[in-house]
Amino acid sequence: MKTYEIAAIPGDGIGKEVVPEAVRVLHEMEKIHGDLKFEFTEFPWSSEYYLEHEQMMPDDGLETLKTFDAIFLGAVGNPEIVPDHISLWELLINIRRNFEQVINIRPARAFQGLRSKLANPEDFDLIVVRENSEGEYSEVGGTIYQGEEKIAIQNAIFSRKGTERAMHYAFELAKSRGKKVTSATKSNGIYHSMPFWDGVFHDLSNQYPDVETEQMHIDALAASFVTKPESFDTIVASNLFGDILTDIGAAIMGSVGIAPAANININGKYPSMFEPVHGSAPDIVGKGIANPIGQIWTAKMMLDHFGETDMGDRLLSAIEAVIRKGVVTTDIGGKATTTEVTDEIIRQIAEET
Ligand code: NAD
Ligand code: IPM
Ligand code: MN
Repeated sequence: MKTYEIAAIPGDGIGKEVVPEAVRVLHEMEKIHGDLKFEFTEFPWSSEYYLEHEQMMPDDGLETLKTFDAIFLGAVGNPEIVPDHISLWELLINIRRNFEQVINIRPARAFQGLRSKLANPEDFDLIVVRENSEGEYSEVGGTIYQGEEKIAIQNAIFSRKGTERAMHYAFELAKSRGKKVTSATKSNGIYHSMPFWDGVFHDLSNQYPDVETEQMHIDALAASFVTKPESFDTIVASNLFGDILTDIGAAIMGSVGIAPAANININGKYPSMFEPVHGSAPDIVGKGIANPIGQIWTAKMMLDHFGETDMGDRLLSAIEAVIRKGVVTTDIGGKATTTEVTDEIIRQIAEET
């Protein structure tokens, strides 16, 4: 029996609603496989936990997480009770940084029968490789006074090492997909970091002669995500550009509620973390209408990461079938509740076996 130890952190808001749904689905995968086990240990680390303990996780939180095969996270953030820069930096970004989850991969694709805002969403299938450890997400800077005036200074950090590894990851991924990498740049406006980024991209392109390359300014790229998503295969982007692009990717699929993500530790020293693209969605919390597909597709990415690709494929094909049938939540035009969608996915998995 192959057992995977998974740390579950539902977090805040709808994270607490969708994580249990994906856990239910994974237990169904155990049944159809017969020789696979997912052992979940749940941690209540969240904004509510912060109110009680004045920290988002205990001092030995990272030590505890280190021993797991993977971390399965819902969403963090309840700005009504804890400022986002505290809750996110102490939990989500803390884990990403300390566990060297330097790559964040986030696919977006068309699904048959899915009501997208696009006129013709039939044929796109792209993946964003987001640099996940540096760039615009930096603590370097501060606030100063110039006379009476307060000024905030925020520096971005682009190391050769960090930039190269994100780009290498993208090129390797592209080799197994559409053999094309688009680099998200802004070297026309951002004076130091982006020309540097372009230079690294140029150097790496030479190492991958079989992969087609293109470079687009992030503004034009964002527009093209909407107008011609089918022209993209693998996109490599800095931390912030990748963050924004992947919400657009989610939107062109139909909803941020279905987009998955994987924070990958590439040196094998620490667990990777799997969490959907969306946040805690305070506006719909408690209504039973959160789309569980983002979290469930994220579970598929975790299965693939474990090497259980057959199980991962089966899970994705169940998601596809349920979307085709239209048993979906209101954000993508259906009437089903969170649990009804999950029930249907589970039924579909059982049926296809
Ligand atoms: P959000 O993704 O939570 O919500 C944006 C919109 O999308 C809302 O209208 C919401 O209802 C909708 N939405 C999101 N997930 C959905 C789902 N599964 N089903 C249906 N609709 C869904 O973004 P936000 O409002 O900017 O952020 C809310 C909180 O979440 C903030 O505290 C923010 O910092 C945090 N956040 C956390 C993460 C994370 O933990 N990975 C990611 C993004 C935002
Ligand atoms: C994401 C989120 C986070 C990010 C926030 C909540 C810090 O938006 O995972 O996409 O920007 O990385
Ligand atoms: Mn985001």
